[in-house]
Order: sequence, then structure tokens, then C-alpha cells
Amino acid sequence: MADVDRYAVVGHPIAHSKSPFIHQAFAAQLQQRIDYRKIDLAPPDFRAWVAGFFAGGGGGLNVTVPFKEEAFRMAQCLTDRARLAGAVNTLWQDAEGRIHGDTTDGVGLVADLQREAVPLPGAKVLILGAGGAVRGVLQPLLMAGVASVTLTNRTFDKAQSLVALFPAATPIQAVPMAALADSQWDLIINGTSAGLNASLPPVSAAIFASGPVVYDMLYGTELTPFLQWAQAGGARHVIDGLGMLVGQAAESFAIWRGLRPDVGPVLSALRGLSS
Ligand code: ATR
Repeated sequence: MADVDRYAVVGHPIAHSKSPFIHQAFAAQLQQRIDYRKIDLAPPDFRAWVAGFFAGGGGGLNVTVPFKEEAFRMAQCLTDRARLAGAVNTLWQDAEGRIHGDTTDGVGLVADLQREAVPLPGAKVLILGAGGAVRGVLQPLLMAGVASVTLTNRTFDKAQSLVALFPAATPIQAVPMAALADSQWDLIINGTSAGLNASLPPVSAAIFASGPVVYDMLYGTELTPFLQWAQAGGARHVIDGLGMLVGQAAESFAIWRGLRPDVGPVLSALRGLSS
């Protein structure tokens, strides 16, 4: 395989990663030959392994939990959106041997919303959560021309800290969860990890009453509990995060190979696999 460009996703744990399937499907679609693996690393081994991968001519890496911040610190060149996210999910090396870092989660989300025909320009957006997943998508969402982004979080000061990352004129604000009862939104995005523990964020179901589009960054074989709750509460369209996963991968692939894959067929194949 010496003539085949090598890629990998690095994380811990990593066994269930769909990234090898997605990237091999992109490569097949675009008649590319790549070798893409999943690499499970003990956290202390991350930096040395990445340095060795690129020293050995590796083509690019996706980085996932728990290494996104370490990859951010390791990258010698960062995109603006990675700087704002404070995290990196895509690494590559330039001709001078410098390691570059970017985060493609936010563009993956925006691309998925556009694919689902969700109108973003002028939209009033509510985002639940203020952790790394939310921080990573704020700039691309704002760049998509939404009217406003309102952040709410169980721990309110974390939402305030995210808002403080942006210049004062940016249409982004933080509102406590308890103050949302009678609010109206075009789009609600769940970026909390509450669903991983089979719980729901402590907000009133009244946020769904005006019939917004509701997006959950999580996904599963069934509609996520958050999306079921949103649908029961009046959401007009619910979307899970599988398309964001494929969308961020497509953006990484485009960075590495200069070719843009078609997300639709790969997303359909993944939905077929899990049904
Ligand atoms: P991630 O990388 O997935 O964003 P994180 O940085 O640990 O992970 O952030 C998790 C987010 O989910 C936080 O906004 C967290 O709220 P707190 O800041 O109050 O901890 C939110 N979260 C997790 N479990 C939750 C729950 N049961 N209800 C509401 N919010 C929850």
C-alpha cells in the first residue's frame, strides 16, 4: 500500500467510529485510493503518535474525543474558525512540514441544514448547551447569515463565556434556561450531551410550540429522545446529527484531497446500515 495516501481518525474510544466507512465511501465515489484507519490511543501517546504519523508521510488525520484540544495546541497553523472553536478535528501537513489544524464540525452542521432546506438567512436560532460541541459551530452559523443566536445552558455562566468570545456587535446573546418559556424560534439546536445519559435538558417544552425546525447534534438508530420530545411539543421538522457527521467528514476530505464528495449517497448508506 506504499503508493496509497494514508489517513486516520484518532480518538479514545474509537471502536464505533463511522469515519473509515465514510471516507472510504467518499474515495470510491471520487475514484480515489486512500487508506483510512481508526487509531485508539492512550491519551499520553497522542502527540508522539501524530508527529510520527506525519514524519512518516501520513496524509491527514481526523481527531475526536478526547484529543481535539490537544490537536489545537499541537497545530502550528490554525484557521480562524479553529481558533474560535479552541479545538481541531482535522490535521494535515504542508510542503514545508508544518502541521495545520481546522475544525469542520460547524461547516458540516451548516451544510446539513442547507441540505435539509432549512432557511438560515434571517433565522432566529436557539442553541442548548455551551460545551465544546457548541463552541465549534458558532462561527459558521453566524457566517450563514442568521438573524441571531441565543445560547442557553444548564450552567449559565458557560453560555455567557461563549458569548464573550465574540465582538460586542455580534448578534449572539446568552439567556438562562428558566427564562425561555414563551420564546419563539425558527431553529433550535440541541448541542448538549444530555441524551448520552438518556436525559433531557431542563427547558420548557413550550420552546417548540411555535413550530420551529429542531436539530439534535446527537443521532442514533431511532429518533433521539430530544427529537421525539420536540416533535410531540410542536416542532415542524426534526433532524438528527448524522448528516453533520458526514458533512464534517466531507469538509475534511475536501481539505486533504481538493475534491468535494457528495454527502447524500453516503448518508443514505449509513442510514441503511443502521436500520
Ligand atoms: P461536548 O464536547 O459534547 O460539548 P462538554 O464540553 O462536556 O461536551 O459539554 C456538554 C454540554 O452538555 C454542556 O453544555 C452541559 O451543560 P453544563 O455546562 O451545565 O454541564 C450539557 N449537558 C450535559 N448533560 C446535561 C443535562 N442532563 N442537562 C442539561 N445539559 C446537559
